[in-house]
Amino acid sequence: MDAPKPAFKERVFSGVQPTGNLHLGNYLGAIVKFVELQKTHECIYCVVDLHAITVWQEPAELTKAIREVTAAFIACGIDPKKHIVFNQSQVAEHAELAWVFNCVARLGWLNRMTQFKEKAGKDRENASVGLYAYPNLMAADILVYRATHVPVGEDQKQHLELSRDIAQKFNSDYAASIAARGFGDAFFPLPEPLIQGPATRVMSLRDGSKKMSKSDASDQSRINLTDDPDTIALKVRRAKTDPDPLPQDEKGLETRPEADNLVGIYAALADTTKADVLREFAGAQFSAFKPALSDLLVAKLSPITAEMRRLKDDTAYIDSVLADGSVRAQAIAAETMKAVKDIVGLVRR
Ligand code: TYM
Repeated sequence: MDAPKPAFKERVFSGVQPTGNLHLGNYLGAIVKFVELQKTHECIYCVVDLHAITVWQEPAELTKAIREVTAAFIACGIDPKKHIVFNQSQVAEHAELAWVFNCVARLGWLNRMTQFKEKAGKDRENASVGLYAYPNLMAADILVYRATHVPVGEDQKQHLELSRDIAQKFNSDYAASIAARGFGDAFFPLPEPLIQGPATRVMSLRDGSKKMSKSDASDQSRINLTDDPDTIALKVRRAKTDPDPLPQDEKGLETRPEADNLVGIYAALADTTKADVLREFAGAQFSAFKPALSDLLVAKLSPITAEMRRLKDDTAYIDSVLADGSVRAQAIAAETMKAVKDIVGLVRR
């Protein structure tokens, strides 16, 4: 059962890991939505560096990647003055609330997380404890701001469900204490995932059954936000397809994962639907559709790439954005932690 909604102010939170290059999946699945939500909501966008170190990161590379993701946020159109942009490790309350959630979440819940199983692979005994407990930190990221809406790609759906379970269990375990402190019948909202549009799961350009990902060994499998126009055109030209022309309607894409993926990418970039794209390209060969797709990609991504390049060298500016955002984020997070300590019964200053 949902907590009573009017009690919570609508607030958006989401995060991106600073590991390697950002790609088209991150952009269409998440960052485009981040930009759009700024018009209607108070938004908090976080470079989740504590999540990144759940697997080994070379320190100098990590520092660079934190700044790069920040630059990408700004280059894509996130306004760090009107909204909050910061890196997770500068607000210690994330880790503090995550510990409380380690004590709320159940082992059985974490054991079901498919992302841990995929990332840990066969060598499970050798995975870090952090990788296992990662979804609890993710719940803390969101709930330390009592955020109500979380834009993410499809791959984060299960983690979001866990965040809701944790919020729900905290609310019910501590119901009496929550009510006694004047927070009504729920302290945490049950955060709603926002997973919408034609590109919630962008697939690899080399294999329509695999997600586009930073960790794929083949750079040909993804479009990076740093790719230049020639590289984009080459990757699209080489993208795996089938020999048939594009169908009339979406039903015709059901058994054609590669075609479905490219049409979805086009639709998301053009801010339209797959049905609309098919109305325009029904019967077209990939030899005609692919150049149209690369033109659109270049038109949308080139300005972002150029701005990222410009910002990347201005580390003083990027670091000042993160410092300023952290101070503003911490003001909200500290209030939540005070209340959580009172609710749980911890003595504080
Ligand atoms: P991360 O860093 O892997 O990805 C960042 C965002 O990009 C989306 N995404 C995709 N969307 C569509 N197609 C794809 N191929 C694709 N690949 C990635 C992800 O769904 C995500 O929205 N655990 C999160 C980061 C995180 C977070 C949070 C998110 C930490 N705390 C709190 C929301 C709220 C992650 O690893 O995302």
